[in-house]
Amino acid sequence: MAMDLEAKKVLLRKIPHGLFICGVREDDEVNGFTASWVTQGSFEPPLVVIAVRAEGSSHGIIQRTKRFSLNVLRFDQKDLAAVFFKPQKALGGRFENAPFVNGELGLPLLEDAIGGVECEVIGEVIHGDHSIFVAEVKSALLNSDAEALNLSSTGWSYGG
Ligand SMILES: Cc1cc2nc3c(=O)[nH]c(=O)nc-3n(C[C@H](O)[C@H](O)[C@H](O)COP(=O)(O)O)c2cc1C
Repeated sequence: MAMDLEAKKVLLRKIPHGLFICGVREDDEVNGFTASWVTQGSFEPPLVVIAVRAEGSSHGIIQRTKRFSLNVLRFDQKDLAAVFFKPQKALGGRFENAPFVNGELGLPLLEDAIGGVECEVIGEVIHGDHSIFVAEVKSALLNSDAEALNLSSTGWSYGG
């Protein structure tokens, strides 16, 4: 029997999501993009799971470098999240008005965010239009704790 596609969409969109800026670096090139398909996968070692669009520019960088950062946005940073999913003139251009520091692994950590973690990929599932990367958290920088931005508060949807 054919799947009820509308039911699938309604149900999958009920999965709650946060909103993060995933940062990547390859040599001198830095890039970042908005990601909502992120979750924790283990306490010990601390693992996170992220789904990355196979056709995006960051996908190949993560595959090659086996690293990425996850920046946790504050509840009032919806505009910044929008900057990081819109097309950019050149790779990394989205960081123009979003200053960052380099973390211990050299990955971009936004100065004006709740904080960020740097992760090393330990596994991947390459299948479908997004690839799943499982990664171990190697460093954590907390700038200032606050309520985090979540997808449902923005009125946007990514899923279904
Ligand atoms: C609300 C929202 C959530 C998103 N979540 C993800 C995500 O979890 N993973 C992903 O790869 N792209 C996600 N995207 C899309 C990327 O932000 C977008 O494709 C971006 O342009 C990719 O940048 P890049 O090609 O420079 O890597 C999301 C977009 C929006 C609007």
